[in-house]
Amino acid sequence: MLEKTYLADANKRASGPYNFADYLKQYQFSIEKPAEFWAEQAQALAWYKPWDTVLSGDLVQANVRWFEGALLNVCFNCVDRHLVNSANETAIIWQGNEFEQVKYFTYAQLHEQICRLANVLLSKGISKGDRVCIYLPMIPEAIISMLACARIGAVHTVVFAGFSAESLQSRIQDTQCKLVITADEAVRGNKSVPLKLNVDLALKNCSSVTTVLVIAKMGAEINGQHEWEVDYRAAIADADINCPCVVMAAEDPLFILYTSGSTGKPKGVLHTTAGYLLYTTVTFKQVFDYRLNEIYWCTADVGWITGHSYMVYGPLANRATILIYEGIPTYPDVSRCWQIIDQHKVNIFYTAPTLIRMLMRSGNEPVQQTKRSSLRLLGTVGEPINPEVWEWYYQVVGAEHCPVIDTWWQTETGGFMLTAFAEVTSLKPGYAGLPFFGVKPALVDNAGKLLMGENSGNLVMAQSWPGQMRTVYGDHQRYIDTYLTQFPGYYYTGDGALRDAQGFFCITGRVDDVINTAGHRIGTAEIESALVSNSQMAEAAVVGYNHPLKGQGICAFVIPKQGVIVDEALKETLLKEVVQHIGAIAKPDIIYFVNNLPKTRSGKIMRRILRKIVEGGAIKDLGDLSTLAEPDIIKELLALR
Ligand code: PRX
Repeated sequence: MLEKTYLADANKRASGPYNFADYLKQYQFSIEKPAEFWAEQAQALAWYKPWDTVLSGDLVQANVRWFEGALLNVCFNCVDRHLVNSANETAIIWQGNEFEQVKYFTYAQLHEQICRLANVLLSKGISKGDRVCIYLPMIPEAIISMLACARIGAVHTVVFAGFSAESLQSRIQDTQCKLVITADEAVRGNKSVPLKLNVDLALKNCSSVTTVLVIAKMGAEINGQHEWEVDYRAAIADADINCPCVVMAAEDPLFILYTSGSTGKPKGVLHTTAGYLLYTTVTFKQVFDYRLNEIYWCTADVGWITGHSYMVYGPLANRATILIYEGIPTYPDVSRCWQIIDQHKVNIFYTAPTLIRMLMRSGNEPVQQTKRSSLRLLGTVGEPINPEVWEWYYQVVGAEHCPVIDTWWQTETGGFMLTAFAEVTSLKPGYAGLPFFGVKPALVDNAGKLLMGENSGNLVMAQSWPGQMRTVYGDHQRYIDTYLTQFPGYYYTGDGALRDAQGFFCITGRVDDVINTAGHRIGTAEIESALVSNSQMAEAAVVGYNHPLKGQGICAFVIPKQGVIVDEALKETLLKEVVQHIGAIAKPDIIYFVNNLPKTRSGKIMRRILRKIVEGGAIKDLGDLSTLAEPDIIKELLALR
């Protein structure tokens, strides 16, 4: 296929980098002199005290520290400092499920709400370093809660409202949270999610929690059924509107966010104060070329890293006006996103390929019914975007005048790593693009040999950047083992990539046992253990496969115990098991009942064979079968389809 490129128009750029030559010059400087580069960038934040050292430690010793000695507060940077000139500018536009449900928060109103909540948290005994769990839908209180924690130095851990009570419980147990903020229910389209009920279930085994603040969103009465229950709104109404920001050290923890890996339970990725905030602030501004008063809409849920870095911290530190939407993109119909763009005059729309693929399937009509004339830029994140989907986004949604900015990054990286820069770098559909400043990507083969020029391999980072995670909460060794020992001296991303002759990167997907389904990251091991927790199951193997809408679908091969009757009811039971242990996002799309699994003689499941089987590969596509312990299994597997 002939690869197409769209050229940048540097005349349209409002802030630096101003053109491609400028990018190249700054990039070189950022790699050669990272400390000087980041010290200059640090002017983007307000500091109580400057740093003694910009960067210390390294990837080998797993002890990277940025801006050591500096003091600052994240909430001050995201809210208070904007009050001087912009107290009455809009900070948050909240759009509910129904068209008429709209709320606006100015920076002054946001500040007041944060201070009130921060005082409630303090009154409940929360202080610097304590962990607070946030289990909320897409309502302004989710953002207010994050910033109230940051204000008093509490460490938040947001749990996606789609996760089950059991997932919530394991996160609360791991962080030993003292306080949980939740709502009675969440509404998504026509469905309601019983958040408070899930918290009640989770707390059956969480002795660290002493308070649960409940937002009576759907009007439920918060009647103190349990002694730890507090009505959020009543508590806020009584609280003082002044609350000073706690002075934080650069490396004090800001938040913990759980993410799935190839093995074990999800890891608590820990981000710290200065490096993370600076990185999200600078990347947001420079990649999107954000201009004051632009309306910015990121469709991510607050429970994921995109919701942290590019819905809350990066934009608010830039004094942006952000839009958050509580509903689903197909309610009441598939035109909803474009209608919201018109209704609120959205300038920047940042979403995931899954959503674009889903809306593209409904054709151009629902898009073209709307004007979308306010749009300046379109962004994408979370999964590889197929070139034809990229083209549709560019041609139909953006009417050929909005650059499509593909941003590759991870929970662990804190912010954009490989990306296009609006009107600075040319756009190549399907390619995430070039490294952000200070990012030094490299490709290595499985033996760790560095691959040069046009090539493909494992994507690694050769240098630390300020937004890098610092540890896995409570398990530093796991951090080292997962990210830093596979290829010593490098941070290992778990992704495969190819690099073209111009140095543009195209992400080819995960190379480990992690599935990226509909932009959500789930470890195969987590789903397997949910499946085998059912007493009728002997063994399970889960793989991802190409799925036209979700990017990757989830396929489970399960071996029932002897004598178990295999029928539709058993399938349903297994699906329920996954929903209960993890959440609906991890439900397998396909379940195959088998008598055996393809294993090596040492007992390792050969997942690549399973992947090929589910994708319809013929026997010749299955690769080397010589290490199979029981070659006859292949016949059984091929007969499944
Ligand atoms: O495989 C990559 C994919 O999503 C993974 C990170 O997932 P998570 O930590 O949940 O963060 C998602 C939002 C930043 C990566 O290892 N990924 C993310 N962005 C892209 C992507 N794959 C291709 N292109 C992208 N733009």
